[in-house]
Amino acid sequence: MRTVTKDNITDVFMAYLAEDTDPRMREVMGAMVKHLHDFAREVNLTHEEWRTGIAFLEGCAAVETPDRHEFVLASDVLGLSSLVDMLHSSAEATSSSVLGPFHVSGAPALEVGGDMKRHYGGPLLLAEGTIRDTDGNPIAGAELDIWQTAHNGLYASQDEEQDTYSFHGLMTVGEDGRYAFTTVKPVEYTVPSDGPVGDILRACGRHPWRPSHLHYIIKAPGFKTLVTEIFPDDDPYLDHDTVFGVRDDLVMTYVEKPGSDFPDGMAISGQVSDPFLHVEFDVVLACAD
Ligand code: BEZ
Ligand code: FE
Repeated sequence: MRTVTKDNITDVFMAYLAEDTDPRMREVMGAMVKHLHDFAREVNLTHEEWRTGIAFLEGCAAVETPDRHEFVLASDVLGLSSLVDMLHSSAEATSSSVLGPFHVSGAPALEVGGDMKRHYGGPLLLAEGTIRDTDGNPIAGAELDIWQTAHNGLYASQDEEQDTYSFHGLMTVGEDGRYAFTTVKPVEYTVPSDGPVGDILRACGRHPWRPSHLHYIIKAPGFKTLVTEIFPDDDPYLDHDTVFGVRDDLVMTYVEKPGSDFPDGMAISGQVSDPFLHVEFDVVLACAD
């Protein structure tokens, strides 16, 4: 087709695709370009606005490093990462939630009942639960990868005061599927807002805060790996998570208990006299496809 118009340009684009283009590529690329073209027509996109968009992408590329993923952050604050998560979350399993950029591989092993708080400050939290299949049976040998901020709102990789792997742990559950660990109550924190994504948040009158959370990745042979988070129900940002990660079944009450109620069988049993927080969070994994 030689004569391209604003009305036929989407069809022309599709006609340019080679006949043997992979069918999924044709579907995804075709839909993306159709929505891009419709978007430009709908808002009557100006040259200046188009240049601003391109400058945003260039700005993301300029600050991108192995430790800083500005494109992923852009996807997070636009809600795309969470939407993709929700599209592929199993209805009968625990909801998934954003991975975020602070997961590290090589976290140290943490025994069931182990302690991640160590000498770090902040309120003591005991988190425990059972990892189950969708019929309610415990999943023996499931692997739980845990990470979170310290009480200052910083992940270990952001904070020179912390050890490389502080508040990161890898736990393998026993026959009963139970996990348990002590840690510090995480706090709400801001996503990086000193780059182009921060400019977008400010331009839209949005804040960069996330509600406090514990991150989990749970893996077990024969089951779909689950990337998720747990949120306390009293967090001020629960209804305004800047990356849209909150789901109803991930919001839990952290119950304050007297030190005398601290259970046996934990690494720090016998050392707790002050009140502590307790959260029970069971996780359900879906069968692998
Ligand atoms: C996080 O929870 O670690 C996170 C998620 C998305 C963007 C930034 C941080
Ligand atoms: Fe996080």
